[in-house]
Order: sequence, then structure tokens, then C-alpha cells
Amino acid sequence: MSFDLGLPVNTALLLYVLYCVQRIILPSASTPKTVPNEFKHSYTWMPRGHPPTLLFKTYTPRTLQPFNGTDNPRILLAIKGVVYDVTAGRSFYGPGGMYANFAGRDASRGMAKQSFDEEMLTDIDQPLDKLEDLTGEEIENMRGWMDHFANKYIICGRLVENDAA
Ligand code: HEM
Ligand SMILES: *[C@@H]1O[C@H](CO)[C@@H](O)[C@H](O)[C@H]1NC(C)=O
Repeated sequence: MSFDLGLPVNTALLLYVLYCVQRIILPSASTPKTVPNEFKHSYTWMPRGHPPTLLFKTYTPRTLQPFNGTDNPRILLAIKGVVYDVTAGRSFYGPGGMYANFAGRDASRGMAKQSFDEEMLTDIDQPLDKLEDLTGEEIENMRGWMDHFANKYIICGRLVENDAA
């Protein structure tokens, strides 16, 4: 077998290989100088813009309530003082969602007792639920949900007493 440069197909291949090597060694030399503006950033690994910034904040039962999915597109809930941004789970927590009762609220007791009954929630004007009557098993269950939420959503704040923020 021999490589016959006289064959047009071989000449074409050789030229193509040289072209590719040149593109790798001198990428800028082969980039057109007059790229239309809208394509300037199309072929790059750089993100187009900065992702929206998320501020870690301190919430109280009263300031958490507006994030219950009705007026504000953001949905937050708290478990044991940790606030999670569950906006991505709107189908669970948005209006009409199966767990909408937890939106904008301290969900600790409901998560511990595996119940979305109304009496699991503490009035937003009352002191935080101390959860002192929970059994070890219920605390374990609540911790399990906290793991689930920490893995799936973003922790975006902490929940403190109404008069502590
Ligand atoms: C009628 C019984 C119930 C059914 C059929 C049910 C069904 C479901 C289903 C299908 C999911 C979705 C799982 C996924 O796609 O990740 C889910 C998630 C969940 N369930 Fe239930 N569930 C029930 C009762 C409860 C109760 C009583 C609670 C009270 C704490 C609860 C709390 C949750 C939570 C917190 C999630 C996770 C949602 C998320 O990832 O944001 N569920 N459930
Ligand atoms: C949701 O929050 C808004 C604003 O804070 C409030 O007016 C409304 O009553 C809340 N809805 C529920 C179901 O808690």
C-alpha cells in the first residue's frame, strides 16, 4: 500500500488535515474578524450572564408568610429553623398543591408527624414551635425530610422568633 499524492483524493485529505492542525495550533488566525454581534458569544463555554443571586436571610414566621406561593413567585418553607427555597417544587407547594399548607410556614411538626393537618402549623403571631413533645422517631423522621430538602432545594435562610430579627 502506498500513499500517492498524485491521487486527487489524497491531496484533498492532506490539505484538510493541514487545515485542521492549523485551526488547533492557531485558533485565532482562522476566526473571522467580522462576526455579527449576536454570534460573538455563541460558541463559548462562558455563561451568558450571572445566575440570579440568592441572599441568605433571616426570616420570622411573619416575614416568611408572604412566600406562600400566592402573590410572590418564590416559595419558601422552614423546618427546625432552616429555610428552604422550594420554588422548584411549585406543583407540591403552590396554590392547590398537595403540600401547599407548608408554603411560607414552619413545617417542622408536620414533617415530623408525617401530617399536613392544619393543627400541625403554629400561628404566625405565636412563638416558634419548640417541638419538645416529639418522640425520637418523629425527630428522626423530621431529620430525614431535612436531608431530602437540603439535597433537592437551596437553603436560603434561617427562621427566628418574630421579635428576634
Ligand atoms: C395520601 C398519602 C400521600 C401520598 C399518596 C403522597 C405522595 C407523594 C408523592 C407522589 C410524592 C412525590 C415524590 C417525588 O416525586 O419526589 C410525595 C412527596 C412528598 N410528600 Fe407525600 N404523599 C402522601 C402523604 C404525605 C404526608 C402525610 C406528608 C406530610 C409530611 C407528605 C409529605 C411529602 C413531602 C414533604 C414530599 C416531598 C416534596 C418535595 O420533594 O418537595 N406526604 N408524596
Ligand atoms: C399567603 O400570604 C399572603 C401575603 O402574606 C396572605 O395574604 C395570605 O393570606 C396567605 N395565604 C395563606 C393560605 O396563608
